[in-house]
Formats: sequence, C-alpha cells, structure tokens
Amino acid sequence: EDAERGGYEHFMLKEIHEIPKVIEDTLFEYLSEDIEMDASFSAGISEIVFIACGTSYHASLVGKYLIEKLTGIPVRVEFASEFIYHQPPMHRALTIAITQSGETADTLEAMRIAKKLGAKTLAIVNVLGSTATRVADHVLYTRAGPEISVAATKSFIAQLIVLYLIALKLSRLPGSEVNRLIDELRAMPELVRKVLEREGEIEQIAVLISGYENMMYIGRGIGVPIAMEGALKMKEISYIHAEAYPAGELKHGSFALLGEKTPVIASLVPDETYEIMLNNIKEVKARESVVVAVADEDDQEVEKYVDFVIRVPKTEHIFSAITHSVVLQLLAYHTARKRGCEIDKPRNLAKSVTVE
Ligand code: AGP
Repeated sequence: EDAERGGYEHFMLKEIHEIPKVIEDTLFEYLSEDIEMDASFSAGISEIVFIACGTSYHASLVGKYLIEKLTGIPVRVEFASEFIYHQPPMHRALTIAITQSGETADTLEAMRIAKKLGAKTLAIVNVLGSTATRVADHVLYTRAGPEISVAATKSFIAQLIVLYLIALKLSRLPGSEVNRLIDELRAMPELVRKVLEREGEIEQIAVLISGYENMMYIGRGIGVPIAMEGALKMKEISYIHAEAYPAGELKHGSFALLGEKTPVIASLVPDETYEIMLNNIKEVKARESVVVAVADEDDQEVEKYVDFVIRVPKTEHIFSAITHSVVLQLLAYHTARKRGCEIDKPRNLAKSVTVE
C-alpha cells in the first residue's frame, strides 16, 4: 500500500495532488482535436433534473448554477434517496445522474425510476463498466482514475469539468465567448498547481481550526455548493461539526450559533455577490467568530475584515468552484491530520454505498 500512495502519507493527499492531471485528462477526453462532446442527450428536452448523493450532489448544485446561467434551461437537483419516494413530474426531462462509483444504490434506483417516468438518462460516472453505465441511455466518463480515499476529491473536480463542458456545449453565449471560457478551462491545471503551492499556508490555518468542535461555511451563488462540499469534507474526515449556509440566510436563525467558539470559512467569489458577501462577513465578525476567507489573489479589500485570507489565482468567477474546492479539501485534510484522524477510512463510512 505504501508504494500505491506514491510517497504521500494518505491516499487523500495523493489524490488531491493528482487534480491538475485529472483536469487535463478529462478535458482531453472531450476537447482533443477530433473529439467533440456528443450532446445528442439534450435533444428536445425542456428541463434537466440532477439526481445524486453526497459530494456528487454538490457537483449537481454547481451544475444547476452553470446550466441555468449559461443556457437558460431550468434545472432541478434532487437527492437520489428522496427522488425515489417523491417521484416528481418529469415531463420532457433529461435526468443527469452523477456518481463516482456508478454503484450507489439510491442513485441507481432513482435512475431506473426516472426512466419509468419517461425521462432520458445521462450518467456522469468515473468507474468504467459500473452499473450506472449500463442503466443510463448516455454516459459521460470523468477521467479521475481510481479513487481510494473515502473522501471524494479528484473525482469531484472531474465531475465539475464535465459539467462546465456540458454547460458550455448547451450555452447560448456567442462562440467567441465560449472559446474564451474553454481557454480558461484549459488553464485550470496550472491554476490548481498554484493552489497546491500554498499548501503550507493552508496547513497553518488547519492547525488553528483543529482546536474547534463547530464550524460554519458560507458563500453566495456558486459559493453555496462550494461551502456545502467544504463542510462535508471537514465533517467526514475531521469529525468537526461543520454547517454550510448561503451567507444571506444566516440572519434567519443560524446567527445564533456564531461566536468565538465557531470559526467561519467564507468563500468570496468575484461576481455580483462579492459586495453583499463582504457585508455578510462584517456581520459575522460582529458576532466575534474567527473568519477565514478564500479570495482572489488581487483582492485588497477582504483582508480589512477577516482574520486570515487564503488566496487563489484570479479566474473567471464560475471557475472559482475548482480553486476554492481544492483549498477546502486541503484544509479538511490538514485539520483531520492534525487531529490524528483515520483520514482515508473515516469511521462509519464506506467508499460506495450499495444499500438503500
Ligand atoms: C464524499 O466524500 C463521500 N464519499 C460521499 O458523499 C459520496 O460522494 C457519495 O456517497 C456518492 O457516491 P458516488 O458519487 O459514488 O455515487
């Protein structure tokens, strides 16, 4: 096993460091010279319904944001385990199931039900030949390679890459704008390498976080699923109770939890939510929580209001989901390591949940 970890202490850390290569491989799959993404799955649809669990559910929320923003197609996101019993109307819907393993029982059952309800199904899957690839009408593979650590890291980023490509493929933006965004996407491996160079800094903040038992993650817009995935990662491997909230919702109840015993991780995305997010951060600081912001490298403003800033390379705001998520994966990893947790095989969890 030592050899398979390639010199890293844990598979999770190795897999985070593989992310630049995973992005390259997944982009190559769909953007190399003579290959284009086959988008026949989208013909005649009136809406998209994502079904997934856990981290793949969070990828779906990013997918909803991207597809609604770039294409105008309405999108719903359902927990697979809820969809099975709820069975919502699926008139001319395309169901997109996202699953790393392709074996998650709830997701498989939800796909079968979606088909019975008349929907077309597309599966975004990492494991070749897994059950989901046989149930779905269409399959798009992520090229993350085998993921050993229970905590999904590189597979989540690969799912996002496929979602960017779907959203761009179906987008109604002018061709020149689509090409510009694809060029930015091609630059992501390099930008993630820059994030990984900041690991030492992130580790120092993890030392501070490791002393707490409760945390709050906040964001707005695409920052909300980033926060949800960051909190899930922290919970599952460090056993710190971490909640994620849309920053504007805090004042409707969760403010009561804030204070010096609850640090807040704030994802600041450089888009139309930036100014209101800064206001939300000021409100959080007024409740005496320690605030760690994840923000662009050229952001001069945020450091005036928070305790620590983890910088990410500047990018088009939609791609913040990649850079911020890698930061939050490293933060969870180093916090769990500092707390002496069993990182690759956390208690009570399995890599793939094959029971309903
Ligand atoms: C995330 O770190 C977990 N391992 C878990 O939430 C996982 O994403 C979920 O069980 C879904 O798995 P799947 O993508 O293989 O369907």
